[in-house]
Amino acid sequence: MTNSPTTAANQMWGGRFASGPDAIMTAINASIGFDQRLYAQDIAGSRAHAAMLAATGILTSSDAEAIGEGLLTVLSEIEAGNFTFSTALEDIHMNVESRLKDLIGAPAGRLHTARSRNDQVAVDFRLWVRDQCDAAIQGLNALMKAFLAQAEAGADWVMPGFTHLQTAQPVTWGHHMLAYVEMLARDKSRFEDARKRMNECPLGAAALAGTSFPIDRHMTAKALGFDRPTANSLDSVSDRDFALEFLSASSICAMHLSRFAEELVIWSSAQFRFVKLSDKWTTGSSIMPQKKNPDAAELLRAKLGRILGATVALFTIMKGLALTYSKDMQEDKEQVFDAADTLMLALAAMTGMVGDMTANRDVLATSAASGFSTATDLADWLVRALNLPFREAHHITGTLVALAESKACDLADLSITEMKAVHDGITQEVYSVLGVENSVRSRMSYGGTSPIRVAEQVARWKTQLA
Ligand code: ARG
Repeated sequence: MTNSPTTAANQMWGGRFASGPDAIMTAINASIGFDQRLYAQDIAGSRAHAAMLAATGILTSSDAEAIGEGLLTVLSEIEAGNFTFSTALEDIHMNVESRLKDLIGAPAGRLHTARSRNDQVAVDFRLWVRDQCDAAIQGLNALMKAFLAQAEAGADWVMPGFTHLQTAQPVTWGHHMLAYVEMLARDKSRFEDARKRMNECPLGAAALAGTSFPIDRHMTAKALGFDRPTANSLDSVSDRDFALEFLSASSICAMHLSRFAEELVIWSSAQFRFVKLSDKWTTGSSIMPQKKNPDAAELLRAKLGRILGATVALFTIMKGLALTYSKDMQEDKEQVFDAADTLMLALAAMTGMVGDMTANRDVLATSAASGFSTATDLADWLVRALNLPFREAHHITGTLVALAESKACDLADLSITEMKAVHDGITQEVYSVLGVENSVRSRMSYGGTSPIRVAEQVARWKTQLA
C-alpha cells in the first residue's frame, strides 16, 4: 500500500520535485519532533552566520539586520510556546527559516547563503552537547561536594572494608566516601577534556566542500564561543565523535553512580543497617507496612543501562558510514538527548541522596570488628615483632582464625595460652593490633585509610572544590 502525497513539493528544496513525499516518508524523514530542542542553538548559529555574511559584504547590512531581528522574534515565540512546529518542514532548521520568512519576507531567503543544513546541524548539535558537558561538570561538582561532606564528618569512623563483598580489613568511612570523590573527579575531567576537543566550529563547511563565498569562519567560531573553526570541511559535516565522547564519559560516570547505588541498596538493608536513607529518597510498599525501599538507589543502579544503550546505538549508527553526511546521522540526537537527561537527573538524585543519608556509626564500628577483619594486622605484627617471613605469618594467622572460628569467637578473644600454642613467640603485645581503631590508624601509607591520611585528602579536596 502506498499513501498518496500529503503536500505539494517542499518549499525549501522541492524545485525538481513534482509532488510532495508519501505520508510515511514524511513520518520517517522528519526530525522536528525531537530536534526542536536545538532551537536556541540553531538561532544562535544563524545569527552569527548572518552577522558574518554582512561583515564580509555577502549580505547587505539591512538584510542581515532584518534577519538578526527576525530570528530574535522567532526565539521569543518558541520560548513563549507560541510557535507551531510543522512536520512538513522536517526539522528545526527549516521550521525556523520558514517562520523567519513569514516575519521578514524576502531577506529570509538569503540567510542560507554559504551554508547547508549539514554544517548547520553540526554546529547546533555541538553547541548543545557542549552545554551538556558544562551541566555534567556542574552536577559532578555538586555530587563531589556531597561525598566530601560525608568524608569530612566521618574521617575517622571505622567500617568494614570489603573485597568480594567479604570482610577484608577495617577502613574509615571518610576513606570510602573519598574513593567516590576520586572517581567523580576523573569523570569530570573526561567531560572537560571532551569539551575542549569538541570546541571547534564546523559552521562554514557548508554541504561538505566549503563554499565559494568569501566567508569568515574565524568570526563565526569566535561569536559562538568556539576556540577556532574546524580545519577540514568534509570531517566537519561527517563526524559525531564529539557526541560519542560525551556518551562514553556519561557511561563511565553512570557506571560509577551505579556502584554507589548498589552499595546503598546493600547498606540500607535490615541485615546491614550501615546507613539510613532519608524519607525523601525512599518509598513504601503498598502491602508491607514495615518497608522503606531504596527506589532512588535502585533506579540509579539501572540508569547506566539506558546511557550505555544510547552509546552503543550511536556507535552502531556511525559505524561504516562513508564520508560525508548521511541521513543515518539524524538518529544521533534522540540517543544523546535521552542519555544527557538521564545523566543530569541521576547526578541530581545521587547528590540529594548522599547529602541526606546518615551513617549508623555504631553499626559500622561493630561490623568493622567482625569477620576477623584484623587478621592482616596480626600477620603484619608477626612479621614486625618476630621477624617471620610474611608467608609463614600468614599461615600462623590462618591457623588462629580457624581456631577462633571453631570457638565462635573473635581473634582478640583467644587467650595468650591458645595463641602461644600456635606460635610460642607471640606475646601480650599482639592484642594491641587486634583492635579496629589501631588497625585503621596504622595504615598511614600515602592514600591509605588512616584518619590522618583521610583528613589530609579531605583538606586537599576542600581547596580544590572551593
Ligand atoms: N535533520 C537533519 C539531521 O538531523 C539535518 C541535516 C539534513 N541534511 C540533509 N542533507 N538532508 O541530520
